[in-house]
Amino acid sequence: MNELAVAAGVAASPTSATINVSLNGGPVQNISVPDGSVPLLYLLRGPQLGPLNGPKFGCGFGQCGACSVYFPDFGLAARTCQATITKLLAIFAAYGIPATAPLNVLTLEGLGTVANPHPLQQAFIDQQAGQCAYCANAMIMGAIEFLHGRFASTPQNLAVPTTAEVAQFLSNSTFTDPTTTPWTIIPTPYLCRCGAHLRFMQAIQEATPAMMARFAQGQRY
Ligand code: FES
Repeated sequence: MNELAVAAGVAASPTSATINVSLNGGPVQNISVPDGSVPLLYLLRGPQLGPLNGPKFGCGFGQCGACSVYFPDFGLAARTCQATITKLLAIFAAYGIPATAPLNVLTLEGLGTVANPHPLQQAFIDQQAGQCAYCANAMIMGAIEFLHGRFASTPQNLAVPTTAEVAQFLSNSTFTDPTTTPWTIIPTPYLCRCGAHLRFMQAIQEATPAMMARFAQGQRY
């Protein structure tokens, strides 16, 4: 409901929206919602694209990271509680991307399997990183952006990040806000209410060489 409608005491009519989504490398799905203000998170956890358990509802304000997914085409971990369908389409328009183009979305479920886990998943298991693990999705999806961003930036970043560098990422990550057009960078932490950050840092460091090898092979995550 917009401010004018609130002031007038009148409910604004929702505006429908349609977006094409390829989830975890799968076929393109045409998703229509009766209200474009629906966040991508709801579609992922609901029947339209899910139900998935990887992206979590935490704060609902873009402040914790629990709802993060990775957009390989943009090299960004996005907080889907803030990424409404209308806003995603507006971002497409701002970047000159056709509204019918598929939005490639990678979730925790698309990373690896029990038999063949992704290096970050394996490292989180090895390090027993997490207590309640509600935030594990945030840490892993965010770490993909963190590590690939390092690999892609400068040659000296082809090294295992120091503990201080990982701590900086976890505590003051540059969350890319898809609610603005064009996207803006906001310093935002990845939150863990259990305080398991030491093991997250060790897991991210452990996974770095394997991630580096994948990056060198042209893999996007
Ligand atoms: S639930 Fe989206 S950032 Fe917290």
